[in-house]
Amino acid sequence: MRLSLRLLSSVVQKRPFYITTPIFYVNAAPHLGHLYTAVVADAIQRFEKLTNPDCNVIFSTGTDEHGTKIQQAAAQANLPLQDYCNNISQEYKDLFDEFEVGYTDYIRTTEERHKKAVRHFWTKLVKQDYIYKAKYAGWYSVNDEAFVPESHTREEMTKDGKIKVSVESGHQLEWTEETNYMFRLSAFKTHLQEWLKPDGVIQPSKFQKQLQDFLASDAYFPDISVSRPSSRVHWAVRVPDDEEQSIYVWLDALINYLTVCGYPDEEQLMSRRAWPADVHVVGKDILKFHGIYWPAFLMAARWQPPRRLVCHSHWTVDGSKMSKSLGNVVAPRSVPAPAALRYVLLREATLADDANYSETKLVNIANSELADTLGNLASRACGAALNPRHELPPPHAHELRDVARREPAARLLRALERLPEICHQHYSSYQFYKGVDAVIHVLHLANLFFETMKPWELKKKPEGQKELDVVLHITLETLRICSIILQPIIPSLSGRLLDKLQVPRDCRYWQHCERPSWRIKGAIFETKNIQSGKFVLFQRIYVDKKNVHKKKAIV
Ligand code: ME8
Ligand code: MG
Repeated sequence: MRLSLRLLSSVVQKRPFYITTPIFYVNAAPHLGHLYTAVVADAIQRFEKLTNPDCNVIFSTGTDEHGTKIQQAAAQANLPLQDYCNNISQEYKDLFDEFEVGYTDYIRTTEERHKKAVRHFWTKLVKQDYIYKAKYAGWYSVNDEAFVPESHTREEMTKDGKIKVSVESGHQLEWTEETNYMFRLSAFKTHLQEWLKPDGVIQPSKFQKQLQDFLASDAYFPDISVSRPSSRVHWAVRVPDDEEQSIYVWLDALINYLTVCGYPDEEQLMSRRAWPADVHVVGKDILKFHGIYWPAFLMAARWQPPRRLVCHSHWTVDGSKMSKSLGNVVAPRSVPAPAALRYVLLREATLADDANYSETKLVNIANSELADTLGNLASRACGAALNPRHELPPPHAHELRDVARREPAARLLRALERLPEICHQHYSSYQFYKGVDAVIHVLHLANLFFETMKPWELKKKPEGQKELDVVLHITLETLRICSIILQPIIPSLSGRLLDKLQVPRDCRYWQHCERPSWRIKGAIFETKNIQSGKFVLFQRIYVDKKNVHKKKAIV
């Protein structure tokens, strides 16, 4: 009896929420685009935890360290390969720590646990007869680490003469003839079509449609090469039982998502109930690898494909694609306001279309929204001039009714009461920019309300005290609700504001923002304290034009 109960409890153990970022190549230092992917994934997992307090989140990120591209980068840096990988991998880790990317697992493909997983997975594919050896000839892009079919290539004139490039990525191609192991991708076309049938497997839907169209076209859907001769690619996992061949970096890299949950220990994987992953966040450049190759590899090895891909478009800089040769690669730490960068990335970008970054935009948004609209309202409502006893005063029923009838209070209260539901909807569909937009709209209304009520005049007359209490109460409630909602976007800034308002840590979940105090039935309101002291949420940034230009030249 006891045994069966224990068995039962392990069977019904809650499934974790498993979300991943791509693992990033260590061929160069991280930039704005890499950070963006990581903060999108982080916002998703923070929202999940907010709405689902006892959910166990597995959030993995890390670095992709094998292959030709890394060999070349290490040679150029004149460093031993592993040292080179260690350095850049550490840079990613530091960056994510600085920008509050709360990963629970950091995976590197050069770790022994991962190499074991890759060899095991390979052996499974061989056992299922999905791998065979063949002579292969084709165009290879080292930058994309992928063969490109002739139909997807074009010629380009450069100062060194004519070269072949990939139409899709623009990267240079090399003609390659070698013996490879091939994977029977062609066997999976209909399975992939089935997997891609239900709405929402890939979000936004435009990316799902792209893959569906790709599979629906009569275009040739060939098997793919999944190994390279070790003589060319020595920095890689060897094919089991064939030292002459190295496993293709993309197969190696994708398996990281299984390694994180304990693979190849299949028992551990099953008992943690982490697979299939809930969300892989990816950029549109690697959609095909995650939406075609990866589910096919998984199906071949008898694992389920992921539940969902969240795919995002790219950041451009001052209107151009970020590239080393243009010298416009943005290092996240060197921007004029790193503390506002995460906010601006999530506030500006839509998943479906490219977004454009500029320093002017960063500074303007940081100043107008973080410093003024949010920060300044908080400083005024908490400051000694209007709130000398540092408290959240009660919303006296009579005065509240009276104030609430008048504009612009009425508009503010209506918008505030609808805000949590609106934001919930936007965040659930990964449209963080729309959620933030709704919050900022409410904060604009709150500023207008505050100005119109002239609390500094109410303060001067004794009969104005109760109305002043109501103005402060409504404003501080607005700030509390907005801060709870903004936690996935700006975790530490909203945390500081909630600290200031002395909102206990276990009262910062989504359920706590769903109703303002005056909508809680039967609540008896007592005056509460807030933290004393001057409060500056976000210091305005002043950049003189000359400096902006100087900075650009250094980056
Ligand atoms: O592709 N805008 O790694 P990678 C937005 N190792 N996001 C961008 C971006 C931009 N301009 N540039 C890059 C690889 N990204 C493989 C992945 S996963 C099993 C292996 C982001 O270092 C975006 O998420 O080239 C893109 O997909 C990813 O960085 C590519 O990083
Ligand atoms: Mg890339």
